[in-house]
Amino acid sequence: MGHRAAIVGAGHSRFGVLPEGPRALLRTALDGAAASVDHGLDRARIGRGYLATLGFGGWQLGNSSALLAEELGVPGLATLRVENACASGGFALQEAVRAVASGAVDLVAVAGLEKMTDVSAARRRYWLGVSGDTEWERQAGLTFAGVYGLIASEYLAAHPEAAEALAAVAVKNHANGALNPNAHFRKPITREQARASPRVADPLGLYDCCPVSDGAAALLIASPEHARSFTDTPVYIDGVGAASDYLALQERPDRRGFAASRRAAAVAFQEAGVAPTEVGLAEVHDCFTIAELLALEDLGLCGRGEAAKLTLSGATERSGACPVNPDGGLKSKGHPIGASGVSQAYEVFLQLRGAAGPRQVRSARSAVTHNVGGAGATAAVAVYTAG
Ligand code: COA
Repeated sequence: MGHRAAIVGAGHSRFGVLPEGPRALLRTALDGAAASVDHGLDRARIGRGYLATLGFGGWQLGNSSALLAEELGVPGLATLRVENACASGGFALQEAVRAVASGAVDLVAVAGLEKMTDVSAARRRYWLGVSGDTEWERQAGLTFAGVYGLIASEYLAAHPEAAEALAAVAVKNHANGALNPNAHFRKPITREQARASPRVADPLGLYDCCPVSDGAAALLIASPEHARSFTDTPVYIDGVGAASDYLALQERPDRRGFAASRRAAAVAFQEAGVAPTEVGLAEVHDCFTIAELLALEDLGLCGRGEAAKLTLSGATERSGACPVNPDGGLKSKGHPIGASGVSQAYEVFLQLRGAAGPRQVRSARSAVTHNVGGAGATAAVAVYTAG
């Protein structure tokens, strides 16, 4: 128990279909993080850097972490690229936490980056597909929407009432995204629109899917001992957990939840010494609306099979008892693969410092982030408290 690390600065580019290239997006996020350090940042204090990216489109597949040092303005910094598909950001954050908790370094830069919209639809399908199982899924023509469609079908067969909850998740996250100046979509929608949207992979429609987005986010992670030399209001990371599962869906005995999420959550909450139901805010991996329902259950925010009830009760809305995805989530804020896990921690940093503006939730003092790779093959969870 106790604090393992602290977020002392955070930055974010816009997410969406953007004209900027990867370097400019990365620089925006890093400069934002540096500027947010209340007592000023001496960049020479940064001892290590992690860049989370799938390298989508192959823009700089090899050695891309060197760009982090370049755009940070700390040439020579020891850097490492972290790639665990959509969970790259969450895993990069965990590496940063372990690095400062080990005493090896006092301050670490973590950035997540993806440039997804400058490739053709065919290449986009390929680059998303490489994060699923190649032999049984991608080469058989299954997309991620297809995989999550299969998961949703199985879930809805067991819990037919969840169909309405999928629409409620889309409406909630679009309403939240409308208040987020960095969000890909800033467009509230109704349940009727969600239900009537064109089918992408039945039972999932357009409003059940995250979009394809460009964007970057960055964090400065300090050891707890040094945190207050950077800011009077750090956000502490008290527990982290990570796990994996079979890559292909067919190998898993249970497809109505992600075992990797459950394992990662158990470790993170145990390390933090808090119960899941005690946290006041959750940022979960809602790449498809069904994924938000699975996340509520896998994190232990409710029991198995109870996510629809919790969602339809309004508890996960911004004004509810446990707001979920107040930034709009992947659904509305957007999902630039490597950036998403870092962006979740950025939102926690704002919310727990009371600096989230119009989308600020009431008085949360603790939070959890949940970042999933592909369709649950990897998962990273972190638990936070306000300083
Ligand atoms: N939600 C809401 N609106 C969306 C959207 C989404 N996910 N994706 C696109 N749109 C909107 C666009 O803004 C555009 O609106 P406009 O006509 O008013 O400008 C319209 O739909 C068409 O956009 P387009 O880019 O041509 O859509 P598309 O059919 O090529 O792609 C999806 C739609 C759902 C297939 C695509 O967003 C997708 O593949 N999402 C999932 C990405 C993914 O798998 N990520 C990894 C998760 S594990």
